[in-house]
Amino acid sequence: MKRLLLNTLIGLALLTCQTSFAQKTKAKFSPIKVETPARPANQQDVIQLVTPKLETVRVGFIGLGMRGPGAVERWTHIPGTQIVALCDLLPERVESAQKILEKAGLPKAASYAGDEKAWKKLCERDDIDIVYIATDWKHHAEMGVYAMEHGKHVAIEVPAAMTLDEIWKLINTSEKTRKHCMQLENCVYDFFELTSLNMAQQGVFGEVLHVEGAYIHNLEDFWPYYWNNWRMDYNQLHRGDVYATHGMGPACQVLNIHRGDRMKTLVSMDTKPVNGPAYIKKKTGKEVKDFQNGDQTSTLIRTENGKTMLIQHNVMTPRPYSRMYQVVGADGYASKYPIEEYCLRPSQVDSNDVPNHEKLNAHGSVSEDVKKALMAKYKDPIHKELEETAKKVGGHGGMDYIMDYRLVYCLRNGLPLDMDVYDLAEWCCMAELTRLSIENGSAPVEIPDFTRGGWNKVQGYKHAFAE
Ligand SMILES: NC(=O)c1ccc[n+]([C@@H]2O[C@H](COP(=O)([O-])OP(=O)(O)OC[C@H]3O[C@@H](n4cnc5c(N)ncnc54)[C@H](O)[C@@H]3O)[C@@H](O)[C@H]2O)c1
Repeated sequence: MKRLLLNTLIGLALLTCQTSFAQKTKAKFSPIKVETPARPANQQDVIQLVTPKLETVRVGFIGLGMRGPGAVERWTHIPGTQIVALCDLLPERVESAQKILEKAGLPKAASYAGDEKAWKKLCERDDIDIVYIATDWKHHAEMGVYAMEHGKHVAIEVPAAMTLDEIWKLINTSEKTRKHCMQLENCVYDFFELTSLNMAQQGVFGEVLHVEGAYIHNLEDFWPYYWNNWRMDYNQLHRGDVYATHGMGPACQVLNIHRGDRMKTLVSMDTKPVNGPAYIKKKTGKEVKDFQNGDQTSTLIRTENGKTMLIQHNVMTPRPYSRMYQVVGADGYASKYPIEEYCLRPSQVDSNDVPNHEKLNAHGSVSEDVKKALMAKYKDPIHKELEETAKKVGGHGGMDYIMDYRLVYCLRNGLPLDMDVYDLAEWCCMAELTRLSIENGSAPVEIPDFTRGGWNKVQGYKHAFAE
């Protein structure tokens, strides 16, 4: 009897402890929530937005530094386009972009330069369909909003927005004006990524459970060339993954984000900053005590359907370039760095289509021959059509040309673009949300539903084609 009483008391004590621990842990780890502003009255989402077909896509470019002129040159190779206007703060940059047109045998474009607000005049013209923005990050959203307000579609370099406030402004303006707002994320068109996306969509990896992506690129040699030191300044002032889109884009497409699944929560952690402050000290002799951006930032995301993503950012330390791209499926695996490889169960490889299947090892990568055969079998129709020209025109091995070509193709055919304003939002929200997590001891942060209820309307990511 005594023993029974003792056991009951111990049991009760343990239960009380567990409950109060659970309450404490629950209180401690409930995710940080950020506000989702209500959709303005009489406004609808722009999921699968289509706009009237354009026979010729007339473009104006803003921002002609290291990145912009390459886009001008690529557009000279895209059929059905007209380069109407060129703008940069620095007149000499506009002049050298005019030479690209001259070399291609095209007429001179209108020039806008020499004034911080000259780009507004470009947006106000009535003979432009799309404004293509490749300035520093801080100008992107303001320019995008202004261009849409003036009746233009916009294509904005990565990251198109740096804060949630900028993201919501772009979403609200695209919804209000019914204009396309696309982020120029080129990595979704790279050869291994698009082929692997096609494989995933055809079930080769089984249910995709986990994906990885990154921007790992030592920018040591580039820092001195950014206009006005904007990029190092940004890193100095901001903690978190400030350049996440190259990893996020391909990962989100494989997971059908806002096409049947959505990102729910993230947690993020960074290292201390070492090389950023060291660079500034070397350049200016000044000691920087409060440099914000860690040399390496790592983020984990969980989706509504129970999938996970790992995203990394490191532009500071000497490491081989990597966008990490990995797809982990219940029945297979793809990985791009440091070498491109696939891993499948032997039974998944069709002996009629793929040679040497007997050499497969379920625990290792498939052989080079099998990989080649798989990549040929699952080559995406976009690559089938464009690979040859893309490799000739170039731009990161051809993916930049494919991105621009697809944008023009969809506008000319009145099709939804490959990337909409909600993709832009989901890939760019990392900058502010990872900072929030890091600054709160890596606490979980809820990721807003930028579609405001529409994330399950479309099932599966698709590229649109004219009939
Ligand atoms: N997708 C990719 O692979 C890729 C590669 C490189 C850069 N980028 C992106 O491209 C963008 C530009 O980068 P960059 O390396 O060319 O930088 P950059 O510093 O070389 O060029 C920025 C240009 O913007 C111009 N500019 C600044 N304020 C302006 C204003 N008010 N009006 C008009 N022009 C203005 C500057 O004069 C400069 O020429 C960034 O968003 C960057 O992240 C993307």
